[in-house]
Amino acid sequence: MKYLITGGAGNIACQLTHRLPSSAEILLTDIAEQPRSTPSENSRYQVSSICDDQAIAECIETFQPDVILHFAALLSGQSEADRKTAWHVNMQGTFSLLEAAVKHDVYRVIFPSSLASFGSPLPDPLPEDYPQWPRGFYGFTKASVERMGFYYREALGLDFRAIRLPIIVSPNPSPGAASSYASNMFIDTVLQRPVTLKVRPTSNPALMYIDDCLHAIDLITHADCALLTRSSYNLYSCNPSASDIAKSIKQHLPDCTIDYETDNKVADLIDSWPRQIDDSSARNDWGWTPTFDLTQMTTHFIDLLTDA
Ligand SMILES: NC(=O)c1ccc[n+]([C@@H]2O[C@H](COP(=O)([O-])OP(=O)(O)OC[C@H]3O[C@@H](n4cnc5c(N)ncnc54)[C@H](O)[C@@H]3O)[C@@H](O)[C@H]2O)c1
Repeated sequence: MKYLITGGAGNIACQLTHRLPSSAEILLTDIAEQPRSTPSENSRYQVSSICDDQAIAECIETFQPDVILHFAALLSGQSEADRKTAWHVNMQGTFSLLEAAVKHDVYRVIFPSSLASFGSPLPDPLPEDYPQWPRGFYGFTKASVERMGFYYREALGLDFRAIRLPIIVSPNPSPGAASSYASNMFIDTVLQRPVTLKVRPTSNPALMYIDDCLHAIDLITHADCALLTRSSYNLYSCNPSASDIAKSIKQHLPDCTIDYETDNKVADLIDSWPRQIDDSSARNDWGWTPTFDLTQMTTHFIDLLTDA
C-alpha cells in the first residue's frame, strides 16, 4: 500500500506514520521545512504546498497513492486570524487535491473533519445527523469539505471518508489551534511552567487522547467499503471540563499552577463546540471504541511527557 499524507509535517500525521503498516510506502508533503516529530522509517518527506495545483497533481501522478490522508489545514485559531489563507488551504487546496485524486484514479481519501463543524446551541448528546452551522471559519471549511467529499463520492466514485475528530490531546499540538489548551495543560505542568487558560473552568468540549485518535484513523482508513453507511462519522471519547482536567493533573503534580484569564472570544468559540456526541455509526459500522477516559489519559500522557 502507498499512503500520501498531506500536512505531513503536522502533529497527527507524523505520529500516524508509526501506526501504518511497516511494509507500506508513505509520502509526507507539507510546506514546513521539516516534520514536527520523527516519522516512521518507511516515510519520506517532500516540501510541497497544497495550494500549488501543479505540484499536487504531479505528486499524485508520480507516487500513485492507494490512499490519501488529507491533513493539510489551517487550524481554528489560524483560520480565524487569516481567513484568506484558510480559504486557499482548507477549501481551494482540498478541491485541487480531490480533482487530482479523481484524475489519477486514487481509490480512497480520508479527511479529518472536526467537531468544530458544528456550532451552538447544541444538545447533549449531539445526534448523528444534527445540522452543521459552525460559528468559526475553520468549522465552516470543515463542514464544507464534508459536503465537497460527499459530491466526489456520490457523483465521481471516489471513496471519500471523513471523521469528525474532537480536540486531540497530544504532544506537539498545533500552535495555531484554539483547542491546544487541553494538550498544553499537560505539557506545561510537566515542564513546571505555570498555565494560564483562555477558556472557562466550565468549558467542556469533547476531547480524545492521541492513541485513540490514531486508532480511529487506522480503523476508518482500512474499513471494508461494504460496511460503511455514511461518508462522515462522528467520534466521541470524553468531555472533561478544564477544571476537571486541572484536578486530574493535580493528582499527579500537586504543586502545579493552573489559572484562568478567560478570553471571551476564544472561550465562546470553544464553548460553541459539541460536548457529548452520538457516534453509534462509527461503533456499529467499523468497530470504533475509545480506550482512554480522563483518568487513563492523564496517567498515560504525564508518564509519556515525563519520560521524553
Ligand atoms: N488536533 C486536533 O485537535 C484536530 C481536531 C480535529 C481535526 N483536526 C484536523 O486534523 C488535521 C491534522 O491536525 P494536526 O493537529 O496534526 O494539525 P497541524 O497544524 O499539526 O498539521 C497541519 C499541517 O498542515 C500544514 N499546512 C498548512 N498549510 C499548508 C499548505 N499550504 N500546504 C501543505 N501543508 C500545509 C501545516 O504546516 C501543518 O504541518 C487537520 O486537518 C486538522 O484540521 C485536528
